[in-house]
Amino acid sequence: MGALSDRMKKAGWPIVRERNGSWVVYASQAREYRYDPSTGWSVPEKDLAAALENDLLEIQQGRLSAIRTLSRTTALNHARKPSQPIVRVCQDGRVDGKRVLHLGTGLDRFAKDALLKAGAVSVDDYDPNFYPNRSVLDSTYDVVLCNYVLNILTPAERRLVYDDIAACTAPQGSAYLCVQGKWPVLNKHRVVRKHEDGYLIRDTNVPTFRKGYDSQELIDEVCGLLHGTAELVCMFYNNSLVQWRPDKPKAGKASPIILNGKMEPRMNTNKR
Ligand SMILES: C[S@@+](CC[C@H](N)C(=O)[O-])C[C@H]1O[C@@H](n2cnc3c(N)ncnc32)[C@H](O)[C@@H]1O
Repeated sequence: MGALSDRMKKAGWPIVRERNGSWVVYASQAREYRYDPSTGWSVPEKDLAAALENDLLEIQQGRLSAIRTLSRTTALNHARKPSQPIVRVCQDGRVDGKRVLHLGTGLDRFAKDALLKAGAVSVDDYDPNFYPNRSVLDSTYDVVLCNYVLNILTPAERRLVYDDIAACTAPQGSAYLCVQGKWPVLNKHRVVRKHEDGYLIRDTNVPTFRKGYDSQELIDEVCGLLHGTAELVCMFYNNSLVQWRPDKPKAGKASPIILNGKMEPRMNTNKR
């Protein structure tokens, strides 16, 4: 385990010790490897090493990021009911009769049932660490839900999520984006230091990224990166839920992107 663990950390693979003394390692694409001190790895070590080298190569080539894989540790375990933004869109009748994409589902395991009960025609999940089937992103949806994802990603990773939101929201559809506020980021987490446009925090044994938004900041970011209109739906304490509706795209119009924490212009190419 020891020789591999440094490279696993570099790849953003969270390493978790279980009560029985064994270890679970979470790789990209929702893959899990177990290590039992008496029996060894759950797969041949050479296969694990090959998967690890592949992730590190993809990171080096800019096709994967360690922060994306590591971000699985930010997923709250919703043990009894769906998250607040899911409850809210259901209560408001915003998914009734709609095809829904849940982007960054994490462990919001009651969401799908709640959405279907509230009248959603279908619900597809995508999360690189829990529901890694990217083919669901080839469709467009009447409603795209993306809760507490943008605020755990660095600007470059966030931009990819905005690209997915733009590509998957039908022209007459809406996306609902919920983010954490500034106060909880600074007061409810152990902040290590500033990082890009947010902070590195250390709630578990691995540091992850957090950005706190006030509502206007999220609206400005959404409108700066996507064509369309954005407005506040409601607040959950300090956290904001914003609705975005796309405009019909205008050919050749330049839209800004975020690069290294700074806005820069680009042509609008929504598909990765
Ligand atoms: C703080 S959790 C939120 C989970 C869930 N939406 C909720 O409200 O409980 C953030 C989630 O974003 C996921 N994530 C990270 N990168 C992503 C990406 N590029 N696209 C979609 N989800 C992503 C992580 O795997 C993690 O499950």
